[in-house]
Amino acid sequence: MKKILVTGAMGQIGTELVPYLRSLYSVDQVVASGRRIHEECLFLTAGPFELLDITKSEAIAAIIKKYNIGTIYHLASLLSATGEQDPQLLWKINMNGLVNILEAAREADCSVFFPSSIAVFGPDAPRIKTPQDALTRPTSIYGVSKVAGELLCDYYHLKYGLDIRGLRYPGVISNAALPGGGTTDYAVHIFYAALKSGHYTCFLKEDSSIDMIYMPDVLKGALKLMEADPGKLKHRNAFNVSSITVTPRQLAAEIRKQIPDFTIDYEIDPVRQAIADSWPDSLDDSVAREEWGWNPNYDLVAMTRDMLDVLSKKLQQE
Ligand code: SER
Repeated sequence: MKKILVTGAMGQIGTELVPYLRSLYSVDQVVASGRRIHEECLFLTAGPFELLDITKSEAIAAIIKKYNIGTIYHLASLLSATGEQDPQLLWKINMNGLVNILEAAREADCSVFFPSSIAVFGPDAPRIKTPQDALTRPTSIYGVSKVAGELLCDYYHLKYGLDIRGLRYPGVISNAALPGGGTTDYAVHIFYAALKSGHYTCFLKEDSSIDMIYMPDVLKGALKLMEADPGKLKHRNAFNVSSITVTPRQLAAEIRKQIPDFTIDYEIDPVRQAIADSWPDSLDDSVAREEWGWNPNYDLVAMTRDMLDVLSKKLQQE
């Protein structure tokens, strides 16, 4: 059986996707790769692991050949806030990296999972329940790279028949690895701060509404899409998915149900606020529900309860 390669395995999603796939298939079946090894992610090297700079195309081809890879989960990417600090670097990693992956996949006939983002939408799209096929005219370089990536994935499917699928993730909330450099990171940091000090200073305005998703639904969604009957997929790539629509004020109120003394104040970061203001308040994910049965388990209440439960145990052990 051909193996699975995960790029960006040391990132927020990769650190949980690799163990999830290894538990479903087997440890040897899933090759993790990353640009460097983070000490807290050493556990990923208990199975096959390769250091990989995604901008080096020969290195990708060599790994595919070495392990007989049949499917690639391509997670290596810079996020929206980091991207605004160095747009040229973001383009190099996000776009050149994707081109390299698609070319390697074409040579070796691999399937590819490509995570896109709510960042594909800009101020011209409807803000509330943004439809699947709304206009994608983003104003962040991260969003531009994700729109270009979605189109390139569709092109490789049309032109070369490659099986490429993907989701537009909203902000991802998780408790294993921290997110790195996104506009939605506040929704993770707030939980650590609530448990450690009982106070959080938020970099977005209290009424900035952005959709979120909890990690178990991120993992379930990726696998369900990759295993879906291709005959039923009209879009294939770039499906809107979501499960939680929330503002910082609402998230703080939900946390306060369990930590009554929790307080929040606001010091707005203009760069991240401008990105948040350009994104939808909420997404319409009905197409994903219809075409492949997207059905998330966690709403705001269930996610908050689980985050506080898991994180408080984790922090006690530190
Ligand atoms: N979480 C991402 C970011 O904030 C959105 O896809 O950049």
